Amino acid sequence: MAALTVPDMSLVVLVGTSGSGKSTFAREKFAPFETLSSDFFRGLVSNDENSQAATGAAFEALRFVAGQRLKAGLLTVIDATNVRSEDRRSLVQLARDHDVLPVAIVLDVPERVCIERNAARSDRDFGARVIKRQHDELRRSMRSLGKEGFRRVHTLDGVDAIAAAEIVREPLLNDLRHETGPFDAIGDVHGCRSELEALLGELGYVLQRDELGRPVDAVHPEGRRAIFLGDLVDRGPDTPGVLRLAMGMVRSGHALAVPGNHEAKLVRSLQGKRVQTSHGLAETLTQLAAETPEFRAEVERFAHSLVGHLVLDEGRLVVAHAGLIEAYQGRASGRVRSFALYGDTTGETDEYGLPVRLPWADDYRGSATVLYGHTPTLDAEWVNNTMCLDTGCVFGGKLSALRYPEREVVSVPAEQVWYEPVKPLAPVVPVAEQRAAGSLSIEDVLGKQVVETGTHGRITVREDHAAGALEVMSRWAIDPRHLMYLPPTMSPPATSKRADLLEHPDEAFAYYRSEGVTELVCEEKHMGSRAVVLLTRNPARFDAPAGWRGVVHTRTGRAFFDDATNDEFLRRLDAAVESAGLWQELQSDWLLLDAELLPWSLKAGDMIRDQYAAVGAAATGALPHAVAALAAAAERGVDVGDLLARTRARADDASLYVDAYRRYSAQTEGLAGVQLAPFQVLAAEGATFATRPHSWHLDVAARLAAADAELIRQTRSLAVDLGDDASVAAAIEWWDALTADGGEGMVVKPMANLTRLGKGLVQPGVKVRGREYLRIIYGPDYTEPENLARLRDRNVAHKRSLALREYSLGLESLDRLVRGEPLWRIHQAVFAVLAMESEPVDPRL
Ligand code: CTP
Ligand code: MG
Repeated sequence: MAALTVPDMSLVVLVGTSGSGKSTFAREKFAPFETLSSDFFRGLVSNDENSQAATGAAFEALRFVAGQRLKAGLLTVIDATNVRSEDRRSLVQLARDHDVLPVAIVLDVPERVCIERNAARSDRDFGARVIKRQHDELRRSMRSLGKEGFRRVHTLDGVDAIAAAEIVREPLLNDLRHETGPFDAIGDVHGCRSELEALLGELGYVLQRDELGRPVDAVHPEGRRAIFLGDLVDRGPDTPGVLRLAMGMVRSGHALAVPGNHEAKLVRSLQGKRVQTSHGLAETLTQLAAETPEFRAEVERFAHSLVGHLVLDEGRLVVAHAGLIEAYQGRASGRVRSFALYGDTTGETDEYGLPVRLPWADDYRGSATVLYGHTPTLDAEWVNNTMCLDTGCVFGGKLSALRYPEREVVSVPAEQVWYEPVKPLAPVVPVAEQRAAGSLSIEDVLGKQVVETGTHGRITVREDHAAGALEVMSRWAIDPRHLMYLPPTMSPPATSKRADLLEHPDEAFAYYRSEGVTELVCEEKHMGSRAVVLLTRNPARFDAPAGWRGVVHTRTGRAFFDDATNDEFLRRLDAAVESAGLWQELQSDWLLLDAELLPWSLKAGDMIRDQYAAVGAAATGALPHAVAALAAAAERGVDVGDLLARTRARADDASLYVDAYRRYSAQTEGLAGVQLAPFQVLAAEGATFATRPHSWHLDVAARLAAADAELIRQTRSLAVDLGDDASVAAAIEWWDALTADGGEGMVVKPMANLTRLGKGLVQPGVKVRGREYLRIIYGPDYTEPENLARLRDRNVAHKRSLALREYSLGLESLDRLVRGEPLWRIHQAVFAVLAMESEPVDPRL
């Protein structure tokens, strides 16, 4: 049985005349979806598998589907005659476009057999002439397949060979996903043997020496393995010594290695090709001249055998000398290898005569960690989950390694400047630039998004919702470098069973009881505007200029205050945080608070005037006159009884409505009259507080209120134990009292805060709004029995689902912030919260 090897990720092109058995072969050797047959696509686009007129459309569709499969990294087989070189050319190009290997399998069956077979087929109506022509074309093709770019050509000579063939799938050479580490990835060594020995020692490896005392291997007692990131050779004092050790480690399985551009050039030189010996190759050749021919041959073999890049640890780690963009990882093509060795070069040179390298890592959004070298830099730093470990040892910098998965950098200093650099060492990307707004890309938020969250799995943002959020974000929101969090929406409880109410604490308690949560806290719901406060003593943390204290923004990311008021507000808040001892306690120089900003009219002043006051003025202006007129008519004996009663009720409702919104309006002058009621500490350096109980958060808030009672309002609260009837009754009584004099109501939350039980995440809070407050939401007459009856029919399921998704996205942005992740990652989650707000939900809920 003949084994035909086919790389895992390849485009397999079957070549053979009609009747040679291609479709039969494909059916037997490959899985159903893997084979794309031209006949099938003819059928798809024309309803006729034999329609020659449909050939153009069929191949266009076939190439499109094949392209999608290759993009996903799936082996794909093309079942068409493919006997003409121009037909194959576009398929080779398709494979290259997706950086997979093109493979040809030729089914070479005698003409006579094909003619006989086709004569017996009902699905083929063409004669021997066509087969003869195809056969001639095949004959002419056989010689040139290799030159056409097929990386492997299997020719099956005759019916028996085809029957006996067996496909053997091979992983690509770069596919080491099963190797899970731990690893120590080592940057460019450039012949610095002594520093390499020191670094290996620092990493815990024990050197093994040959009879001459030269290190030929290094073993780690815990079985760790080194990964050499390329450029072992050139420039430095002892390239042969470095190679002897590195080659020994690779041979014994104690190290992996990828080639650098310097190894690539060395191989060509050792193979006798003409290469320029600048950039340190001359030194290497001189040093190697003192070695044996066997050693030189081994170096050539070793350097030649290295695979451009490696994918390790189930795809979580990629190593390549010059790094690798996500689209190229785990693929094989000329441009993939070239990127891995030389990086993203433009063909231009800079002022030092060195090739210009594009900063691919700035745009890297892949989930795999990429470790690389190639560009000497001052310090190894993370840029979007990539790290360059070339810290210029040979130029007098240091030799660096990264412990993986620990993500810990270990370095040893260079013993001296071994090679004068043409260009001074510089940081990878200045930290300020890394955090710059410019490092956000519109692609990060355009189109459909999927955000992976720690608490709620993958959350999808629809394309049109993302577009809506982009509009709001770019028109109104503050600088994304300062927008670290947006608060979630909150659901009311199911509709109350009481005749005269829409909402009551009973249903909020019932919800939590059904979820198995019994320890609750009720918090007073201040009637203001939701506000997020970022307060910092370290503006650089948010890439802001010195003296910047932070920002107070709305739930859609708009600033509340003008710059001067903002600064004054935060100065006072900082003083309160200081005197409450909170900076000290949280060990942070910044913090993020979730709060309510009062009065409501501060943000909603225009809306109150234009919408509520207009309705109120019209109603209270007109209705008393109508009542008076109707009363006079009744007096005269006209029967207007019903209408009079209804109009009286409406007049009463109107004045209650005016009372309701007036209660929340107050004059403010600068900061005078403005109050902040914080209720949750969202984050500080190194920590989020979502799992600290609300008692802790409320205690912090109380301490702040004690420190500056004028600026900071306390949030009153009451703990509830659902197992204790008296406690429940007390909470209901408290809600009655809060709402009796027009208060907005309360929010019921699990005391433990973030709660995940059997069914998943529990609502972080349920708002229970008072009867008078709801008049602002549902309209002046909503309490009239016929209106209430209609309004009772409301469904909170969607609102709840939305609340949980927004809550999880908010937690995710905070987690990313405190983990020090790049801005685009934080912004992605923040942006998604805003996009969720485009979902069509009853706005009155
Ligand atoms: N056949 C056969 N013995 C084989 C292979 C094929 O008898 N070992 C027969 C099939 O049953 C079919 C005919 O030969 O009736 C053609 O085989 P098919 O696999 O369909 O050939 P293709 O190369 O796919 O032909 P076309 O280019 O016309 O699609
Ligand atoms: Mg066929």
